[in-house]
Amino acid sequence: MAKKTIRDIDVNGKRLLVRVDFNVPLENGEVADDTRIRAALPTIRYLLDHDAKVILLSHLGRPKEENRDQFKMDPVARRLSELLGRPVKKVDDLVGPQVQAAVAALEPGDVVLLENTRFEKGETKNDEALSKALAALAEIYVNDAFGSAHRAHASTVGVVQYGHLPAVAGFLMEKELKALGEALEQPEHPFVAIQGGAKISDKVGVLKRLLELADRVLIGGGMANTFFKAQGYAVGASLIEEEAVPQARELSASAGDRLMLPVDMVIADRFAPDATSRVVPVGDVPEGWMILDIGPKTVDAYTQVIQGARTVLWNGPMGVFEMAPFATGTFAIARALAELKDATTIVGGGDSAAAVAEAGLTDEMTHVSTGGGASMEFLEGKELPGVAVLDEH
Ligand code: 3PG
Repeated sequence: MAKKTIRDIDVNGKRLLVRVDFNVPLENGEVADDTRIRAALPTIRYLLDHDAKVILLSHLGRPKEENRDQFKMDPVARRLSELLGRPVKKVDDLVGPQVQAAVAALEPGDVVLLENTRFEKGETKNDEALSKALAALAEIYVNDAFGSAHRAHASTVGVVQYGHLPAVAGFLMEKELKALGEALEQPEHPFVAIQGGAKISDKVGVLKRLLELADRVLIGGGMANTFFKAQGYAVGASLIEEEAVPQARELSASAGDRLMLPVDMVIADRFAPDATSRVVPVGDVPEGWMILDIGPKTVDAYTQVIQGARTVLWNGPMGVFEMAPFATGTFAIARALAELKDATTIVGGGDSAAAVAEAGLTDEMTHVSTGGGASMEFLEGKELPGVAVLDEH
C-alpha cells in the first residue's frame, strides 16, 4: 500500500520534525558534495512555502566521543542556507532546553537544523526516551531520508514507534521508492542489471534477486574476480573473497548465460595510478598483477547488451575509477546508459552515483539514488524499517 506523503496532510502552521539524510562528505570543514542536501530541497521548500515550522534532523558520519567536533552540523547548515537563500538556524543540541526554546520560537515558514543525531548514544539504539523527546518537539513526523531508511534508529523509527507521531514521506523518499520499486516490480524488458563494486559477500542477496528478475546481469569491479576464481581462472594478486568463492560458484551455475562476466581486463603491477598496466584476456593475469578495470572487449560486449535494454539498473563501479587509468570501464558504462533512448536507467547510490556525477552524466539518468546501503537492501527485497513505520493511505 502506498505511503502517505506531505501532500496528504495539512502542514500549515504546524511543527514538523523532518528527518533528512545530510550525511555528506566534508573537506576542510565544508561540504564537499551537496547532492544529498539538494535532493531534500523540494520537500523543505514545499513545507516552508506552506507555512510549516520545519525542524530538520540528520546524522552525519559515524562520530566517536573523541572526534565529535568534526561531525557537527554547522557546515551543513551553512550550505543549506545558501541553497535555500534564507537563514537556517543551527541548534547545538538534539534534545533539551536549547532545542525546546528554538522550536518554541519558530514562526510559520522558519527552519532550524538540530545537531547530529548520532551525538546522542540513544540514536543508534532506537532508545525509547530519546525517541519520545524528539517526538515531543513536533506534531507531525516527515521522513525524507531514504538513504537512512535501512537503519532502525530513534530518528528514523523510534519517533513513530514510541512517539506515536503521524508519519509521512517527503518527496525524495516518495521518488526513491517509486523509481526503485517500479524497476523491480514492473520493469520493461529487456531488463539489464549491472553489478559492480568490490565485494560479492555484501551483494549475494541482491544478485540472487536480480538474477530472478533481470534478463541479463553484467558483472564488473572487484566482485568479478571472485567469480573468476570460482571458475578456476588465475587472478594474480587481485582482490578476492576466498570465503565467497562457493557462493560465486553457485550463482554462476544457477544463472547460466544470464550472468555475464568480463572477457578481458586491465591489469596493473601495483595498486597505484602510475602503475604499469596492460589489457589481457580472462585468465591471463600473471603472478603479482592485479585486475583493476574491465577491458575494451568487455566494454563493447556490455555496451551492446545495454543498447538493447528498456530498463537498466546499475550498482557498483566496474573498476577502481578513483584512479584515472582504471576509470575507463566505469565511465564507458555510464556513457552507454546516458546514450540509451526510450529506456529507464536507474543508478543505485554510493560509488556508482559518484562515478556518474564525475562523468557529468547524472542528469542523463532516469533516477540516481541517494541511498547506498538503503538502496541495496531495498533491491534485495528487504522491508526498510524507516519506511515500514510511515502511515499508509
Ligand atoms: C549512508 O551514507 O549510506 C547513510 O547515510 C547511512 O549511513 P550509515 O551507514 O552510517 O548508517
